[in-house]
Amino acid sequence: MEALVQVDIGEEYLGVDPGELHGRIIARKEELADRLLLLSHHYQQEAVYQHADATGDSLKLARIAAENQDREYIVFCGVHFMAESADILTTDKQQVSLPDLRAGCPMADMASRPEVEWAWQELAQHIAVDRLVPVTYVNSSAAIKALVGEKGGSVCTSSNAEKVLQWALSQGERVFFFPDEHLGRNSAAAIGLAEEAVILWRRGQPLGGNTPEQVKRAKVILWDGYCTVHMQFQPEHVEAWRQRDPAVRIIVHPECRREVVSRADQYGSTEMIIRAVSESPPGSKWAVGTEINLVRRLQNRHPDKEVHSLSPFQCLCSTMYRIKPAYLLWVLDNLAAGRVVNRITVDPETAAAARRALDRMLSM
Ligand code: 13P
Ligand code: SF4
Repeated sequence: MEALVQVDIGEEYLGVDPGELHGRIIARKEELADRLLLLSHHYQQEAVYQHADATGDSLKLARIAAENQDREYIVFCGVHFMAESADILTTDKQQVSLPDLRAGCPMADMASRPEVEWAWQELAQHIAVDRLVPVTYVNSSAAIKALVGEKGGSVCTSSNAEKVLQWALSQGERVFFFPDEHLGRNSAAAIGLAEEAVILWRRGQPLGGNTPEQVKRAKVILWDGYCTVHMQFQPEHVEAWRQRDPAVRIIVHPECRREVVSRADQYGSTEMIIRAVSESPPGSKWAVGTEINLVRRLQNRHPDKEVHSLSPFQCLCSTMYRIKPAYLLWVLDNLAAGRVVNRITVDPETAAAARRALDRMLSM
C-alpha cells in the first residue's frame, strides 16, 4: 500500500471563505462535467454532501461506482476503504481520489491481514478451516477483502450482513466475521443463531481467548473490532427516550452494540434509516442512533417531524469530517489542470482477489 500522507493545501484553500468555496466547487464541477463522478457517504458534512452526484450507504456507493464506467475521475467523499472499493470495482482507465488522505476508518484498521492469517492458523489446529467461511464487512482494507476472496468468502455491508451471513453458513460449517463484532452479533441474532453459537475472537489472546471446545461448538467467530462512533450509544439512552416520550421511535445503525439494537424499534444501514424517517407520516418522532451529520440532515429535511440524536452527546465520525470543502476544491482544481491528486490505488493482484469477495456480495 502506498504511504498515505496528506499534503498541506495551504492558506490559498484553507483561508477561502465558505461562500466562495461553494461557488468555486460548482464551477469546477461544471467544467469537469461528465468526466467526473462525485460520490458522498451519508456521514459527510452538508457543505460537501450537497455537491455530490450520488449519495448513499456503503453498498449503494459501491454499486454506483461499478455502474459508471464512463466517468474518468471518481472523487470519493467518504473514507479510505470506500475509495479502495471504488478503485477495485472500476476499470483501469478510471482514477479514484479521496480528498483528504487522513480520512481512514478506525474500525477497518482493527483487522490487518497478518493478524487475520495468524488467527486462521491458530484455528487450523482445532477445526477444519477448509469449512471455515470468512465474511468481511466492507469497512475493511483491500488486503482483508483479498484474503476473504482467496478463501471463498464474501464482503457484506450493513444493508445485507444477515443475507451474507446466511449464505456463508450454507457454504461451510462456521463463519469467521470481521472486523465489526457488533454488526456480526446483531446479524447472527437476526437470523436466529443462539448466543452460545457466537464467540468473540479477542486480538492478542491465545485462540482469541477461547477454549478449543468453545471454538468447536461455535457457528460464528467474531473479530473484536468496533466503531468508536456507534459504541457511544448506550442502552440507557434508549431507556431515557422511552421514559421521556413513548411515542418516539428508536432507530439505530447495526454497528451499535447488541444491548442497544435489541432495545430499538428498528435498525439498519444509513440508507434504511433515511428511508424510514422520510416515509414516516408528518408529526412522527424519532431518536436516531447514528453519526450526527446524518441526524442533522434528517432534522433539516423533515421540519414536520421530530428528529433527535439518540445520545445527548454529539457522535461525530471525525475521520469522515476530515473531508472539508477546501480539500474537495483542491482535488477538483487539480483534476481540471490534468493532475490526479490523492489517488487511491489497489495493486492488481490484491484487487483481483478482493473483487471476487465484492462480486460475491454484489451478485447476492
Ligand atoms: P453504511 O453506510 O453501510 O450504513 O455504514 C455506515 C458506516 O459506518 C460507514 O462507515
Ligand atoms: Fe468507521 Fe465508524 Fe466512521 Fe463508519 S462511522 S467510518 S465505521 S469510524
